[in-house]
Amino acid sequence: MTSPALDLVELGPDDALFPAWCEVLAASQRADRPEEPPRPASDQVALGRQLVAPGGSRDGTHRAAVVDGGVAGALRLLLPMKDNPTVAVVDVAVHPEHRRRGIGGTLLAEGIRLAAAAGRTELITEIDEPGADAPGREFALRHGWTCDLLETRRDLVLPPDEQALSDVEAEARRASAGYELVTWRDRTPDALLDDRAVLEQRMTTDAPQGDLPVSEERWDGERIREYEASHVARGRTVVSAGAMKDGRLVAYTDLQVPLAQPERAHQAGTLVLREHRGHRLGALMKAAVLRDLAAMLPQVRRISTYNSDSNRPMVAVNEALGFQPAGQLSSWSLRLRPSEWDRATVSAR
Ligand SMILES: CC(C)(COP(=O)(O)OP(=O)(O)OC[C@H]1O[C@@H](n2cnc3c(N)ncnc32)[C@H](O)[C@@H]1OP(=O)(O)O)[C@@H](O)C(=O)NCCC(=O)NCCS
Repeated sequence: MTSPALDLVELGPDDALFPAWCEVLAASQRADRPEEPPRPASDQVALGRQLVAPGGSRDGTHRAAVVDGGVAGALRLLLPMKDNPTVAVVDVAVHPEHRRRGIGGTLLAEGIRLAAAAGRTELITEIDEPGADAPGREFALRHGWTCDLLETRRDLVLPPDEQALSDVEAEARRASAGYELVTWRDRTPDALLDDRAVLEQRMTTDAPQGDLPVSEERWDGERIREYEASHVARGRTVVSAGAMKDGRLVAYTDLQVPLAQPERAHQAGTLVLREHRGHRLGALMKAAVLRDLAAMLPQVRRISTYNSDSNRPMVAVNEALGFQPAGQLSSWSLRLRPSEWDRATVSAR
């Protein structure tokens, strides 16, 4: 098909075009996974406001590809500000009715140009792959990106099998004697805040990152509070559990539930400090969260989690709880060379 006349428009989360920008992301997600409600626009708006507000741990900017007055494609560029100074995270989505006309390529070229202008030399993106024919994979390959990390998505349909959950709980309790289980929601208790920051930082070194060009993040209590406030602003509640030893938090797990559409929850980070592994703390905490979820948020029907196949201990816990494979999530990178800084100024096609 021939390229349409296309305008690239800078926009912010409170601009008149932003709902249409959000709808492109939603339509794109619906095309990939028709059975799942996409993230609500309010979530994208709240994230957008965080990215454009000064002083946060991430900056960002948005562009719309406008065709005949309507938004046909969406670009979001996200820049870590407290660490990873060479990295930019790029999201590109094209409305299913406007695909294969070069809009994705044009938005990607704009993302590369903006990243280069911000001094970033390594770009990262994620692609949801429900099946083997996800368009994002071919698109990324065509543009010279490399797949650095492959994670299997697994879903648990709730309520979990009671026998399986009780078995996991009983074994975890036996193996974790001497540790105290704690739970909280949305806000880490003040006394645990500094330990929680250490755990979040370890997440960026200990969880498998494949060949992604990312380095250790910097976390402190203030950043944990920013992170927590960001979930609340995005309409999510976060159900957490932790394990304590000698008064210190040595492990945690977070589960995020979007309150506007609580049917599907997302497993976020789970980490046990290296020196406390081997006591079934991961299973203990995840079982506790499942119990809390049943009591507080019985509307949740499904939990999605993502694991690298190399992360055997975490996969084993999830399989024991009844999680089943549901596609994959791939993470890709592009290292900019000086020639690409030039190329970034022209359209990709
Ligand atoms: C991936 C996506 C952005 C592509 O948008 P698009 O406007 O169709 O992309 P383009 O027209 O610029 O495609 C450029 C090239 O990518 C490849 N490509 C794109 N979609 C493809 C598909 N479905 N199958 C095979 N190749 C594909 C082709 O080589 C294409 O060139 P061609 O049309 O001349 O053959 C769009 O499908 C989308 O929004 N997918 C969901 C979100 C996503 O995965 N984003 C990518 C990560 S940021």
